[in-house]
Amino acid sequence: MLKNKLILVTGGAGRIGKSFCREILNQDGKLIISDKDSKRGQALQEELSSSDAVFIESDTTDITSIDNLISKGEKTFNRPLDGAIHCAYPTSSGWGSAFEDLDPKNLKEDLYSQLGGAIIFSQRIISHFLENGGGNLIHISSIQGFTSPKFEQYEGTGMISPIEYSAIKAGVISITKYLAKYYKNKDIRINCISPGGILDNQPEAFLKNYSSNCNSKGMLDSEDLVGAMTFLLSDSSKYLNGQNIVVDDGWSL
Ligand SMILES: NC(=O)c1ccc[n+]([C@@H]2O[C@H](COP(=O)([O-])OP(=O)(O)OC[C@H]3O[C@@H](n4cnc5c(N)ncnc54)[C@H](O)[C@@H]3O)[C@@H](O)[C@H]2O)c1
Repeated sequence: MLKNKLILVTGGAGRIGKSFCREILNQDGKLIISDKDSKRGQALQEELSSSDAVFIESDTTDITSIDNLISKGEKTFNRPLDGAIHCAYPTSSGWGSAFEDLDPKNLKEDLYSQLGGAIIFSQRIISHFLENGGGNLIHISSIQGFTSPKFEQYEGTGMISPIEYSAIKAGVISITKYLAKYYKNKDIRINCISPGGILDNQPEAFLKNYSSNCNSKGMLDSEDLVGAMTFLLSDSSKYLNGQNIVVDDGWSL
């Protein structure tokens, strides 16, 4: 479904980004992997070992860096981008503090780098899409972006769900809708995927609590999200715009 489409993945060396990158190549697409972490980005490029994939280091909180990424990526493949998935996940040193302990300095940094970064990346990539006659952008929100956390699932696990994460992820759904409408009649599609929790060595107690709200698997693997990505990038979803697709095994029901 993605044959010959040129797709850019920010945060491409991360947990979710990597699965998206692998699937784009599996589907015969062409891939620009972008990440701030050049070591992990290079390692992924080596692992994929394909002339259809290139790694370009970039920081999604910096306009010049985003613009350079887009132009370098297009030069490499000598053609315009068809789509982009924004998976970068910058976090401050204080990320994950309890509400009572939130430090305004860290809060400011996280609000800018995560939500501000999503807005800035949208601005740069969409202005570029407009020059090329259109394009397809996918944002990544979360179940925490449209429900309140199930706080009881965190009890006794040492884990928390930060208030700013909920605010940022609600903001990501909101900018998806705003921009989809703002660019009406311009051949621009902007949608969002809201994943449930992704397996990453969480404590057994949390996995058990979490899965009690799910329909079958519980916490997901990042590979479980690639179907939604492919659908949104493909022409099968041609008239889908400004939507938030929830992939959470029923957790939010
Ligand atoms: N993992 C989960 O359980 C989960 C669940 C729901 C939603 N999400 C969302 O999915 C997205 C990706 O999460 P993940 O779990 O893959 O995170 P991750 O930390 O595994 O990967 C994020 C990647 O972004 C890169 N990055 C950080 N700052 C950057 C910057 N300024 N510019 C460019 N790249 C930068 C990192 O180097 C890393 O490779 C996030 O928006 C996250 O909120 C994750």
